[in-house]
Amino acid sequence: MSVQKEIKKVTTHTLQVMKSAGEKISMITAYDFSFAKIFDAAGIDIILVGDSASNVMAGHETTLPITLDQMIYHAQSVVRGVNRCLVVVDMPFGYYQSNSEIALASAIKIMKETGGHSVKLEGGEEALDSVKKIVSAGIPVMGHLGLTPQSIYKFGTYTVRAKEIDEAAKLKKDALLLQEAGAFAIVLEKIPAALAKEVSESLHIPTIGIGAGGSCDGQVLVMHDMLGINVEFKPRFLRKYLNLYEQIDGAVKQYISDVKSSDFPNENEQY
Ligand code: KIV
Repeated sequence: MSVQKEIKKVTTHTLQVMKSAGEKISMITAYDFSFAKIFDAAGIDIILVGDSASNVMAGHETTLPITLDQMIYHAQSVVRGVNRCLVVVDMPFGYYQSNSEIALASAIKIMKETGGHSVKLEGGEEALDSVKKIVSAGIPVMGHLGLTPQSIYKFGTYTVRAKEIDEAAKLKKDALLLQEAGAFAIVLEKIPAALAKEVSESLHIPTIGIGAGGSCDGQVLVMHDMLGINVEFKPRFLRKYLNLYEQIDGAVKQYISDVKSSDFPNENEQY
């Protein structure tokens, strides 16, 4: 029997046990009650209320504009749909970078107002003070290394990170520092699979990959990408499990046509 079926609620400890047992961790993003309910009932281990909400929910080009209160609204909605999985809430850009006191205040606000179980923030050495401060207040922290979208204007592109020796060395060091600082897991985004394998094997906490190959301890995908809602986004790492855009397009066109032709509602669809 799998570790995740033996227990009721997924906790950070469960994830640690899963890593030790070699059981892979499944994580998906969600931003609202209805999808969170489906994902939780399907048996997902972790729901990430990602700041990708800025892109897929609000239509911004980057993750930078989303505010703490907007993240809190999404997280509150998600938490209402969840019975069992662990909910991780992204700390948005501008609410933790300046100093660890501000980071702690943001994390406490998220925990108090959403009922989420943990927070995620981007960065390695630069974010260590904040990670330590938040963890010391009893709030579990997930790290995020590699392609960190809040730094898009520093990178200039969403291409694969840490291909060069210096950046790979910094990432390996950052991963160890985050672990020492008390992070319970680390997202590795868009880095070479060999590097992700090395990092995953060097840590006792789990790594969750996105575009980081099959050796991570778990995988995460943005729901709009894997369900085929976001058709323009086609990176190599993405597996599309549905073509929801086409299905929704077909359904809505049929509905429009049924309304126009007075086919809907019929006699059985009225009082
Ligand atoms: O915001 C997000 O969806 C994320 C994932 C891509 C890991 O951080």
